[in-house]
Amino acid sequence: CNKIACYTGNGYDVWEKFVRQNAFERDEFYHGEFPKKFGWGTATAAYQIEGAWNVEGKGESTWDHYTHNAPCRLLYNQTGDVACDSYHNFDDDLAIIKELGLSHYRFSLSWSRLFPDGKLTSGPLPDGVRYYNDVINKLIAANVEPMVTLFHWDLPQALQDEFGGFNSSEIIPYYLDYADFCFRTFGGRVKYWFTFNEPYVYCTLGHGYGVAAFAPGHYSPGEGVYYAAHSIIKSHAQAYHIYNNTYRESQKGQIGITLNTNWVEPMTTTDLDHIEASQRSLAFSTGWFAEPIFNSGDYPDVGNRSEYYNITYDRLPKFTEEEKELNKGTSDFFGLNHYTSNLIVPCSYYPEEGPTYDIPWGIRKLLIWIKRTYGDPVIYITENGISEHHSDGLDDDIRVNYYKNYINEVLKAIKEDDVNVKGYTAWSLMDNFEWAEGYSERFGLHWVNFTDPERTRIPKKSASYYRSLAGSGTYQLNQIFISCRSETDRDDFIFGLFPDSFLWGASSSAYQVEVSQYRFSLSWSRLFPTGNLMENEVANVEAVAYYNHVLDELEAREDVNLIKMLGVQQYRFSISWSRIFPDGTTSYVNQGGVDYYNSLIDSLLKIGVEPVVTLYHWDLPQALEDIGGLLNETVVDRFNEYTDFCFKTFGNRVKFWITFNEPYVITWLGSPGEAPYQATHNIIKAHAKAYRTYEKFYKGKQGGRIGMTMSTEWAEPKDPNNPSDVEAADRFLQSILGWFAHPIFKNGDYPEVVKKQVNERSQLQGTPSRLPVFTDAEKVEIAGTADFFAINGYTSRLVTYQDKSTWPPSYENDRDTHEEPIPGAIQATPDWLQIVPWGMRRLLNWLDREYGHPTVYITENGVGTSDATVDDQIRVNFYKAYINEALKAQQLDGVDLQGYTAWSLMD
Ligand SMILES: *[C@@H]1O[C@H](CO)[C@@H](O)[C@H](O)[C@H]1NC(C)=O
Ligand SMILES: *[C@@H]1O[C@H](CO)[C@@H](O)[C@H](O)[C@H]1NC(C)=O
Ligand SMILES: *[C@@H]1O[C@H](CO)[C@@H](O)[C@H](O)[C@H]1NC(C)=O
Ligand SMILES: *[C@@H]1O[C@H](CO)[C@@H](O)[C@H](O)[C@H]1NC(C)=O
Ligand SMILES: *[C@@H]1O[C@H](CO)[C@@H](O)[C@H](O)[C@H]1NC(C)=O
Ligand SMILES: *[C@@H]1O[C@H](CO)[C@@H](O)[C@H](O)[C@H]1NC(C)=O
Ligand SMILES: *[C@@H]1O[C@H](CO)[C@@H](O)[C@H](O)[C@H]1NC(C)=O
Repeated sequence: CNKIACYTGNGYDVWEKFVRQNAFERDEFYHGEFPKKFGWGTATAAYQIEGAWNVEGKGESTWDHYTHNAPCRLLYNQTGDVACDSYHNFDDDLAIIKELGLSHYRFSLSWSRLFPDGKLTSGPLPDGVRYYNDVINKLIAANVEPMVTLFHWDLPQALQDEFGGFNSSEIIPYYLDYADFCFRTFGGRVKYWFTFNEPYVYCTLGHGYGVAAFAPGHYSPGEGVYYAAHSIIKSHAQAYHIYNNTYRESQKGQIGITLNTNWVEPMTTTDLDHIEASQRSLAFSTGWFAEPIFNSGDYPDVGNRSEYYNITYDRLPKFTEEEKELNKGTSDFFGLNHYTSNLIVPCSYYPEEGPTYDIPWGIRKLLIWIKRTYGDPVIYITENGISEHHSDGLDDDIRVNYYKNYINEVLKAIKEDDVNVKGYTAWSLMDNFEWAEGYSERFGLHWVNFTDPERTRIPKKSASYYRSLAGSGTYQLNQIFISCRSETDRDDFIFGLFPDSFLWGASSSAYQVEVSQYRFSLSWSRLFPTGNLMENEVANVEAVAYYNHVLDELEAREDVNLIKMLGVQQYRFSISWSRIFPDGTTSYVNQGGVDYYNSLIDSLLKIGVEPVVTLYHWDLPQALEDIGGLLNETVVDRFNEYTDFCFKTFGNRVKFWITFNEPYVITWLGSPGEAPYQATHNIIKAHAKAYRTYEKFYKGKQGGRIGMTMSTEWAEPKDPNNPSDVEAADRFLQSILGWFAHPIFKNGDYPEVVKKQVNERSQLQGTPSRLPVFTDAEKVEIAGTADFFAINGYTSRLVTYQDKSTWPPSYENDRDTHEEPIPGAIQATPDWLQIVPWGMRRLLNWLDREYGHPTVYITENGVGTSDATVDDQIRVNFYKAYINEALKAQQLDGVDLQGYTAWSLMD
């Protein structure tokens, strides 16, 4: 048997299954419905909620004893003496259970509330029986299925004292008596029984590392843990048989065990040592109990560690052959408690991704692993949830997100992987006594006021979220679109159609692509082997076919053919100014350049693709740069002459013009101080003049449209509740996008905040304002010079306020902002490009509101990668997610988005 496989069956190929899945696909939201009969519930445990630890004869449990006698080990010396006081307040519990509208409620019985010293002779206490009858009857009356755990860690202390509790097999008959009593007394109404809850935790903490803060507090990690587990498995198996033989026929219920495990992800999923370590880890957590119960009847074979430690006896107890047979098949379902995942390497493990351990995809893999390893059992998820430390908030987005995403992974496991999950149970109904953490750690869907004698329960946001998800069994649209800013809904995928008139495009720019010749020579001797044409030698047929093939291939690979294959409606390219006017002026027209663009335009029109032409995409004629480039105001007239020539020459066929591409990038790169302001000033004037020329002389007869393509990163306030961050983000957008868009779309002038910042800064530095001023006539000429809003967007940044008044004067420092990466976003190859799809939607919304609902075209959007592969899944994912955000902006937010152009047609 394969070394990896032999621990625990076939589960090891789960990693194989997902080896090619990237983070993007992994986290993709799945839409679908849960099966009609799927069960939804919440859970609690007796010691964590009941309180009333010593009423009406109730015996002391190990947790009572431990919290009363070992306070220094527990946080804040807290106990479960009162907890949520559910013993006195079950009607309050019932009210919130009903309000949630769920199908089941999982709770545990306190053994010492029924039998004070754990033995039949000491009870049953009438009061305990009355209390649980009341709970069960009221649940049934409310149409909520009771799911009952017999042992959730609170052993009667007397049994602990007498022989060490589960450390000894002497406990088994007492557990069986107790279980038998419960079946007999409550089993007419209880159809789901759990013998034990999380024996792994109980054994490792209570009997292994108990000193650290867990009842019964035994420290015996190398031996005691194994003894306790052994008694538990035997108790479980025999309780199962009692139920199966004596009660099942009349009561018609089910019985099983609830096991817990983290998912473990090999650090490297292709490294066999790492996979083996993960398998071993699962064998020690889940397999320890599941292998005897669901598979072989015996423990998983993980080799002999005693040998290694020179220990000459067995620490792991042995099952007899008879016991193995008794263990096998003793669970009608697999009860699973799951919270988080870890990364595994041999001899060590790492917690995944930060302190909240919120790793939704882990549960899907775990479910598949269980299916494969334990023969496709029915699975009930009996606990899943997340805590907050010291949080008193009702606005628990963290929990809403956790449930939303974990439950979505459960849905994927059901629908995509055919895992037989029949129910889901959230931990927990309400905040309660979280064992060693006391009341400092809250897991509840409901907030409990622990200083209030009434222990008032108040629903958190997560309660209403869970109620509506569970109530419908599907992710509702109205849940998804609560608001554009809610993290919960941010990354959801939506389905919808862009309007028929929507224009799709691909783009490029002159300097980046215009080398499209392939020069090759013909072989004379291949065509005419003898070379003797005088004797009418016929060209070699194969050679002719070969060269024809080369020519066909080249033609097929021409850009125009690529565009045709994409099926887009637009192709955006730029004209190289110096290819038309080599020195940038009208002194000389390069006819070859004109012919080239004529032919490109004609071939696009021939295949039904609209040319979108950028007049300036960064490649200024060097002759103009030599006299100051964009800093020399004469560039305004030169640009006007050049664009006028283009309108005249190409405008009968080009109906979509863009004056400048991303002027922010040209003016900003590498130029500190006042240069960017001067360059921007000239660009805006050049743009306006070209626009007016087009408007006056061409628009009427040519019927085209003209605008400018601007760019910005989306600026997300680091703390959206902090006004100074919100203002900083707005200042960022005003300084980058508004710098151009404000004059053009608003009043012909720079945004007030930019004027204020630069003027104040200049004054502080004792210089005249570095920001040039438009005359009133110029403002009139500039305002309104765009027929549409063209935007290039790629990425997003977190923005905060930072006082930079003492920094060197520069365009960036003038705005007093600090930018940082968005936490958790995927980094693409260019260091400036993080993949943040939702930023696109917010950017579109921002400009829609800021500039009065303009018609918008996305003229560039795309992702850079360094791998030389054509299997570019990351780009597929990028387009899928970003375009979906564009769809949301268009359909949900009403942005007048009319086209989308991908960057870029080719590398
Ligand atoms: C907990 O109780 C112990 C013993 O009574 C005491 O020494 C300690 O200060 C208490 N700690 C807190 C946090 O109250
Ligand atoms: C657990 O059982 C072992 C073996 O019988 C015994 O040596 C040990 O003392 C017991 N430990 C406790 C805490 O009862
Ligand atoms: C493990 O090794 C120890 C020490 O060599 C030996 O006593 C024990 O029987 C071995 N156990 C198994 C299950 O092989
Ligand atoms: C086991 O004993 C061998 C031989 O005495 C020794 O080399 C080795 O270090 C011991 N192993 C451990 C883990 O103590
Ligand atoms: C449960 O009882 C049924 C009916 O007697 C029997 O066929 C089945 O084998 C029992 N299950 C186990 C695991 O013993
Ligand atoms: C909790 O209960 C106490 C005591 O009744 C009360 O003073 C306090 O306002 C309550 N807290 C909240 C947040 O309701
Ligand atoms: C600006 O360009 C004009 C010619 O168009 C030239 O005469 C002048 O010297 C240039 N200015 C600078 C500062 O280079």
